[in-house]
Amino acid sequence: MSDILTDLTDGICTITLNRVEKKNAFTQTMYSSCAQALEEAATNAAVRVVLLQGDVGVFSAGNDIADFLANPPASTDAPVFRFLRALVAFPKPLLAAVCGPAVGIGTTLLLHCDLVYAGDNAAFSMPFVNLGLCPEAGSSLLVPQLMGMHRAAEALLMGEPFFAEAALEVGLVNRVVPPTEANGYAQAQARKLAAKPLSSLVETKRLLKGGQQAALLARIEEEAHSFARMLREPAAKEAFTAFMDKRHPDFSKL
Ligand code: COA
Repeated sequence: MSDILTDLTDGICTITLNRVEKKNAFTQTMYSSCAQALEEAATNAAVRVVLLQGDVGVFSAGNDIADFLANPPASTDAPVFRFLRALVAFPKPLLAAVCGPAVGIGTTLLLHCDLVYAGDNAAFSMPFVNLGLCPEAGSSLLVPQLMGMHRAAEALLMGEPFFAEAALEVGLVNRVVPPTEANGYAQAQARKLAAKPLSSLVETKRLLKGGQQAALLARIEEEAHSFARMLREPAAKEAFTAFMDKRHPDFSKL
């Protein structure tokens, strides 16, 4: 069974994260598969809407930490950046259904989605600082735009989880539903969108994005350079090794 499942039914391309035993942590292969699915959905006239979903108990634990240690992204050609570029460029409505933990890129990818539906068990976090890293996926630009500077600073400097109701309040999610209903609710919303004129949806999304694409891509690249450097530094190595060893990291000497 693949770690990424795709299905195309009635104009809706559903991409399902399917590595539940590792909490849907993204491997390089998963980034590549998601990028490919988005690139194909962008040009396939049969696709009108894309829905990205996880499991009822977990959306994604973010980047696979063992993969970070073994294959840190060395350049902006890495699969994660292909995925981010595909997200930023995706011209049709992009929906997400999120239940359980959404860590790191599990939260930051949502900033690129148009509509987000959350189970009331959703827990969002961007713990980059706690991992010796810095924001990615354009989150240093998009989170302050979304939440305001102080709430962004809390989310990105403290890196603590915030929950579905708080995400609703800051506008990261559109609606909170029981976890067992999240994927179905998002599907129903996707069906409504798929019945609308695609050209109007695409034009409206383009106008909503307000010509920010170039600035966003530039920020993703700037973040990527810092992130790649910091991945190789002692703080990140300590954080990742601690996670693999199931202990708390010790940054006291760093
Ligand atoms: N990378 C690699 N493996 C991961 C992972 C990740 N990001 N997140 C979870 N896993 C693995 C665990 O190592 C464990 O594997 P094992 O069964 O072989 O020991 C399995 O998935 C289950 O995870 P566990 O931590 O036991 O589940 P939990 O329900 O107690 O906690 C999370 C879930 C998501 C809160 C927790 O796994 C977590 O904090 N993960 C790391 C998140 C992170 O820092 N991501 C990087 C962001 S840049």
